[in-house]
Amino acid sequence: MVTLNINGRDTQVDADPSTPILWALRDNLNMTGTKFGCGAALCGACTVHLGGQAIRSCVTPISAAVGQKITTIEAMEHDKVGKAVQDAWVKHDVPQCGYCQSGQVMSATALLKTNRKPSDADIDGAMAGNICRCGTYQRIRLAIKDAAKTLA
Ligand code: FES
Ligand code: FES
Repeated sequence: MVTLNINGRDTQVDADPSTPILWALRDNLNMTGTKFGCGAALCGACTVHLGGQAIRSCVTPISAAVGQKITTIEAMEHDKVGKAVQDAWVKHDVPQCGYCQSGQVMSATALLKTNRKPSDADIDGAMAGNICRCGTYQRIRLAIKDAAKTLA
């Protein structure tokens, strides 16, 4: 049994310590907002925050999260920055198929938590690991800028 702090609550997970956070969330805790894309840190679909940093949960074992805070897409509506990002996503109608979008929102939120006025280069740097097969990148950029304005 491993105790993880997820979205502010200590949660017992009955899984081997080497289990990736992604599968503990999805399979053990039925928190399916975090998506599986590649399983190899190549697409960003599985992005969550660990200690405030955007990380790839498909390659990060739960043992690495003990004593730290995991934050997932399920908590974003209760987070000032996450909510601003989600509202901007809706306003700009960002998602197409939607599959990559929880990861996109998590990376965008991590960026805006540390940089309230990101330049295009800052956005490119923060979002580079999040692939969108539907090509929603332009709307993502607009939405991040809009969320930044809302939070200013
Ligand atoms: S599923 Fe984790 S980066 Fe693709
Ligand atoms: S909206 Fe379809 S993969 Fe990004």
